[in-house]
Amino acid sequence: MHIVPANGADIPALGFGTFRLKGPQVLEVLPRALHLGFRHVDTAQAYGNEAEVGAAIRRSGVARGEVFLTTKVWVDRFRHDDLIASVDESLARLGTDYVDLLLLHWPNQAVPLAEQIEGLNAVHRAGKARHIGVSNYTIALMQEAVRLSAARLATNQVEYHPYLDQSRLLAAAREAGLALTAYYAMADGKVLRDPLLTDIAARHGRSIAQVVLRWLVQQDGVVALSKTASPARAAENIAIFDFALSPEEMAAISSLAEPAGRIVSPPGLAPDWDAAA
Ligand SMILES: NC(=O)c1ccc[n+]([C@@H]2O[C@H](COP(=O)([O-])OP(=O)(O)OC[C@H]3O[C@@H](n4cnc5c(N)ncnc54)[C@H](OP(=O)(O)O)[C@@H]3O)[C@@H](O)[C@H]2O)c1
Repeated sequence: MHIVPANGADIPALGFGTFRLKGPQVLEVLPRALHLGFRHVDTAQAYGNEAEVGAAIRRSGVARGEVFLTTKVWVDRFRHDDLIASVDESLARLGTDYVDLLLLHWPNQAVPLAEQIEGLNAVHRAGKARHIGVSNYTIALMQEAVRLSAARLATNQVEYHPYLDQSRLLAAAREAGLALTAYYAMADGKVLRDPLLTDIAARHGRSIAQVVLRWLVQQDGVVALSKTASPARAAENIAIFDFALSPEEMAAISSLAEPAGRIVSPPGLAPDWDAAA
């Protein structure tokens, strides 16, 4: 697996996502995923599974220092002191004294962005987060966060799959040295029924999931997250570093993007998204 350099962070290009994995499922699948070679794990305060994520990493026998571990601060903990307290609680649940990456989970105007970013920086200065970043940020919000932060931001984690054009956001992230971390690669299952992806997958003797994850990690500056409760699918999803898509295939997959391709836009959380390119 290759590493994506991101303003001083070295992020393994494929991460194991844990959204919607309940504690017992995490304990079952995550040690298997680590044995398969996953070295990047994504959780969040809001997922309610940090304790099991920490336990699964320890149970796997893979050294903590070999795992790139991300968590995210939920939007109701963005006031300065509360953000710091929430990270201490996360670290206690995870059973570790640092995370590799700490993100603000969604934008939230209720607390000034400068205060949120200073909270991240305070945690970073204390050595409790090796790197910091944001999630679900628009281009303008990301650029504002970059301007406000003393420490360089490593990533903006956003929805990205073949039906959602993120080329403008990706260009802006590259310009500022951030990685774009892609979630929802399977587009809620829609990619699995796509005729073009079916054709490309057949040509390579791969699954559609592999083609989509490959399309993501083959783009400069892109990190992909992949969640599955199934160890067999985890094995499938990590087997994407021994083949390549042609430039024509990359472009054809990108051309599947639709103006209404965005799926994740929770009312009360979602910002005023950038227009599709
Ligand atoms: N920052 C944010 O706001 C945010 C939002 C959403 C997600 N995320 C992060 O991104 C990660 C990935 O996103 P996601 O979990 O929503 O979506 P995903 O990785 O696109 O997976 C969606 C579904 O696809 C299925 N799947 C996985 N591999 C497959 C395969 N090889 N063949 C067929 N189906 C397959 C899985 O079902 P099975 O489990 O049944 O295999 C999974 O539930 C999350 O777990 C989380 O860590 C972040």
